[in-house]
Amino acid sequence: MHVFGTASSGETATLHKLESPSGIRAEITNYGGTITRLFVPDRAGNLADVVLGFDTLAAYEAGSPYFGCIIGRVGNRIAHGRFSLDGRDYTLATNNAPGGIPCHLHGGVKSFDKLVWHAEETTRDGAPALRLTRTSPDGEEGYPGTLDVEVVYSLSNDGALRIDYAATADRTTIVNLTNHSYFNLEGEQSGPILDHVLAIHGSRTTPVNAGLIPTGAITSVADTPLDFRTARRIGDRIDADDDQLRFAGGYDHNWVLDHAPGTLGLAAEVVAPLSGRTMQVWTTEPGVQFYSGNFLDGSLTGKTGGRYVRRSGFCLETQHFPDSPNRPTFPSIVLRPGETYRTTTIHRFGVA
Ligand code: GLA
Repeated sequence: MHVFGTASSGETATLHKLESPSGIRAEITNYGGTITRLFVPDRAGNLADVVLGFDTLAAYEAGSPYFGCIIGRVGNRIAHGRFSLDGRDYTLATNNAPGGIPCHLHGGVKSFDKLVWHAEETTRDGAPALRLTRTSPDGEEGYPGTLDVEVVYSLSNDGALRIDYAATADRTTIVNLTNHSYFNLEGEQSGPILDHVLAIHGSRTTPVNAGLIPTGAITSVADTPLDFRTARRIGDRIDADDDQLRFAGGYDHNWVLDHAPGTLGLAAEVVAPLSGRTMQVWTTEPGVQFYSGNFLDGSLTGKTGGRYVRRSGFCLETQHFPDSPNRPTFPSIVLRPGETYRTTTIHRFGVA
């Protein structure tokens, strides 16, 4: 454990290293539960850091586009920052406005990614692990109920990064946690990810309006540029003449995964053609947001001094669907007292 820096709150942020015999090494700070570095071997055994990020706490605090962090209480967008629960109306901050249409994004203004968590180095099933916990007070960012949250990162012997999320509440509330790592499997300074080959095991999506809010429809990906049922280059159709792509400036959509929700299923597979690095994403969640880094614009300088250009990282945010609190037909994100929220996502690395 090292000191990463002093947060503007005055708290000390720490940095923790997890190492697996497979050669994979992760560095994670308790500031936002952020994965700052993730070294993974290529087909020749050479390690590269495959996640985007900064080298100082100050840079994260100055403005990070959610590099590597835990997202909460509710990942993704809530239309107009409004929802009702058990007959009561709630208003959350509107901290995002794609297409000029305001929404609540990724938990609000001082969300889980911007707070210092309690950290404990431990093991999980014999694998090195970091256990992060936090009690989110009743009313934090406008959400009802005190929420006790636990996120455990572990690195298995065979090279998988596992994230186990758990939460309980003392009042009925909503919760949808995820991790927002930006990957570039060629290495974090390798430019656009458009040559990565991607498969998503989801035959349907939740199409959005210009504010990136689901219309409520659940439609087949067949004959659309969102069809990744068979692996293909991310760049193949990213600039196709298509409203969904236009609204988001590329991919920034939720796929409805084909496996049974609540069971661990294969959500996505990615291959980086030059290095041969591969990543599988397994999850118990019903959806995944594939975001192709469209908002990166070269203005952020990364941890090794280079700038992160447009689409130089991609995210696969395992999750419940966007705007779930306002969509009774989507799987529910309601958590009631006495229940335990539990989800798991595994990133399994290999070579091709
Ligand atoms: C998520 C959203 C994107 C964008 C990024 C952060 O992936 O869906 O629209 O806001 O976070 O820049």
